[in-house]
Amino acid sequence: MPQSLSGKKILLGISGGIAAYKCADLTRRLIERGAQVQVVMTPAAKEFITPLTMQAVSGRPVSDSLLDPAAEASMGHIELAKWADLILLAPATSDLIARLRAGMGNDLLTTLILASNAPIAVAPAMNQQMYANVATQENISALTQRGMMIWGPAAGQQACGDVGYGRMLEPMELVAHCEAFFGPKPLQNIKLAITAGPTREAIDPVRYISNHSSGKMGFAIAEAAANMGADVTLISGPVALATPANVTRIDVESAEQMYKAAMEHAVINDIFISCAAVADYRPSQIADQKIKKTDDSDQMQIVMVKNPDIVASVAALKDKRPFTVGFAAETQDVKKYALGKLAKKNLDMICANDVSVEGLGFNSNDNALHLYWKNGEQALGTACKQHLAKQLLDIVVKQYQQYSK
Ligand code: C5P
Repeated sequence: MPQSLSGKKILLGISGGIAAYKCADLTRRLIERGAQVQVVMTPAAKEFITPLTMQAVSGRPVSDSLLDPAAEASMGHIELAKWADLILLAPATSDLIARLRAGMGNDLLTTLILASNAPIAVAPAMNQQMYANVATQENISALTQRGMMIWGPAAGQQACGDVGYGRMLEPMELVAHCEAFFGPKPLQNIKLAITAGPTREAIDPVRYISNHSSGKMGFAIAEAAANMGADVTLISGPVALATPANVTRIDVESAEQMYKAAMEHAVINDIFISCAAVADYRPSQIADQKIKKTDDSDQMQIVMVKNPDIVASVAALKDKRPFTVGFAAETQDVKKYALGKLAKKNLDMICANDVSVEGLGFNSNDNALHLYWKNGEQALGTACKQHLAKQLLDIVVKQYQQYSK
């Protein structure tokens, strides 16, 4: 077993959700890889899995009480807070997340989180409706803004029978997150800018032309790049996604706004990735007032003009040109069109995906990519966008190193 977590001190905070039963396995997998795991349980967590089980698998007494003189005499809550290299909250219930956001310290776990400087990773686990609730979403984005890492949740069948987002990531997925967190940082000292999501091209004050891009792929790349140590600027069209931890986000709406932000940032970044689904055309004029329906004609026409090609403009920079990566979402002849764009837009790499395949590409959680660069290519098989993002960046790093030599 590779000792990828050798000597790492992980404080595993368990709160009261059904996914707590997976924590025994999670602890074993972390320990197998060389980590030391100290378990802290909320009172509700003990209803789902016993401290005895967690003590047996972690090899350490479980901490569960703030007011226990015996426990405080061994490793008190302040010492525990200082001991951890990483605090992993799994499962993190909606209640725990709300208490974290409020800065409460009404049990041992929340108290030591308040007292700790350690990085914190939150693995949400709850019913899909609770996860979708505005209060929970606001709490999660507040935690992200404070620099906490949010790992998951995944979508799928839930213990209550519902289907949707809210399942805790599987133990091995959490282990992979820990390995990435403690692993080498190949993008350390590298500045990376990325565009993501759709653009909106206004017709009048209430209407626009847009597309189905969810922004998930671009956000996954931004998150993976930050995890790999990059200083990341994410230029995003309108999407319903939380900003990943340690990422600077710039919100834009139209292609012209995205162009302006991208050109400003391209020259101060080492790598530029254009993942956004930029509208090729925009209405030539935006009506000042809402356009009225007329009785005398069944047709209306909107004259469209071409938007600037952002990625091609970045790649055409003569001075301070970053390593430039484009995307090509195609519905046919993927390779032919991707290679055509690589050459025509003077890109260093293009990531092609076939958006005609059901369940892949736009708005889905999975994707498959085929990467092409001047003297090479590599296929990345179907996987979740987070996993693909990491694989893609591993290849970008290698090509960037050649480029910057
Ligand atoms: O739309 P097209 O297939 O040409 O897009 C390929 C690449 O060009 C993508 O990386 C996309 O983000 C980028 N693009 C752009 N500005 C545009 C159109 C596309 O940066 N106006």
